[in-house]
Amino acid sequence: MSAASTVVAIVYLLSACLFIVGLKQMSRIRTARRGNLVSAVAMALAVAGTLAEMGLVDYRWILGGVVVGSAIGAVGALRVPMTAMPEMVALLNGAGGAASALVGAAFFYTHVVEAVREGTVAEIVGGASALTLFLSVWIGAITASGSLVAFAKLSGRMKGAPILLPGRHVLNVMLLLGAIAMGIVFAWFAPGTSLGATLLWALFATSLVLGVTLVIPIGGADMPVVVSLLNSYSGVAASMTGFVIGNNMLIIAGAMVGAAGLILTQIMCKAMNRSLASVVLGGFGGEVSAEAGKSEYQNVRAAGVEEAAMVLEAARNVVIVPGYGLAVAQAQHAVKELADLLGRRGINVAYAIHPVAGRMPGHMNVLLAEADVPYEQLWEMERTNSEIRSTDVVLVLGANDVVNPAAQNTPNSPIYGMPIIEAHQARHVFVVKRSLASGYAGIKNELFELPNTNMIFGDAKRVLQDLVAELKQL
Ligand code: TAP
Repeated sequence: MSAASTVVAIVYLLSACLFIVGLKQMSRIRTARRGNLVSAVAMALAVAGTLAEMGLVDYRWILGGVVVGSAIGAVGALRVPMTAMPEMVALLNGAGGAASALVGAAFFYTHVVEAVREGTVAEIVGGASALTLFLSVWIGAITASGSLVAFAKLSGRMKGAPILLPGRHVLNVMLLLGAIAMGIVFAWFAPGTSLGATLLWALFATSLVLGVTLVIPIGGADMPVVVSLLNSYSGVAASMTGFVIGNNMLIIAGAMVGAAGLILTQIMCKAMNRSLASVVLGGFGGEVSAEAGKSEYQNVRAAGVEEAAMVLEAARNVVIVPGYGLAVAQAQHAVKELADLLGRRGINVAYAIHPVAGRMPGHMNVLLAEADVPYEQLWEMERTNSEIRSTDVVLVLGANDVVNPAAQNTPNSPIYGMPIIEAHQARHVFVVKRSLASGYAGIKNELFELPNTNMIFGDAKRVLQDLVAELKQL
């Protein structure tokens, strides 16, 4: 081993260790920021090592790519609001998948198609390497198109409710079996022939279609599971590409992303009480979801901030349920001010955090951490539900689906079976939101009609500021 390749191997090892440390740190709120930084350093080392090792491309091209790519990435990341983060993650997953598929295809062209044209023996004729090449293109293309659909659904550019094509299961199975058949022919008989190139193109096209048909039937509230699953796919595709181009770092980093994405998918499935199969097969409760949001509300009681302030003032235990609307209103500092005020009057205040509240995993934790809400005040759903019957007041702030009792009472609801924060079991519930509009799942919320619920209509930040002002006068 030359001195240069020893240095590269050490850089890769260091980078892999830092990735592991970074991932570990990201699993805790307190250390998550440091984990992000450590992982960024690991990625910089991986890129530097790869550039030193491969040396395939003129450095001027690489520099150009780095400048243009970094500029687009930096502007995108700086401009994206916190509430649009999942869309950005979906796009990044898609970009990862597309990159893997394109690198795999480019490798095939430079090493196989060219070799066949020049009459020299193709480098890649072994079944195993042809198989990894095939997998990198296959999984990469599915990830790319699936992530674009996820992006469109999350950003409202496409209908969020399930789109159920007739015969979709048959179509998906055919696309799947077709890809496997093409893979076998490609890997064992045809990698070094012109048939190989045709098969690769056919695979590319059918995988793009499969990515779309797999994600369109997945509706509303199940999108978090899909995004984490696509994240996992992008890692597996990258790992396969690592085998194709013989880059150990890509194999390791891709495998880590694949595994981390799969663990996150499992956590999301648990949070939604879904089996992975039911989400992947799609269309869970889809037939009713389109109609469910349109039902009219009856007997909704509205309250003003004066009434709410008096009830809060008389309470001993208050549970705050933050949701997506709190992030939209950027009301994290206002809610902390209210909680502190109640705390100074001897009232016990806790925040009930639902695992899929908001639009990304940990969204509410990140939001409340920004306002320095003490970690010990953040309660998980299980703890909240075990104490909810003795809770005097639940203050729902911009949350909707995560407190919807339809998840427990309405078997044909698209969110049926999803664990919820059982706000309806508390003595008194105030729901702060601007209207009776539905949440992400697009369905009616039975909580709003219950006799122990009062709606306070308005922007969450403004209502909280008014509540603080009102309480100060009491
Ligand atoms: P949602 O059910 O989406 O409801 C949010 C509510 O906030 C809306 O009904 C909206 O009602 C209200 N709102 C919006 N702006 C507001 C403002 N300025 N002030 C006050 N209220 C405002 O939110 P949730 O309960 O947090 O549930 C999350 C949903 O997103 C779940 O269905 C989940 O599956 C899905 N999802 C989650 C993730 C992750 S990983 N967390 C990712 C993708 C999707 P008005 O318009 O009437 O104000």
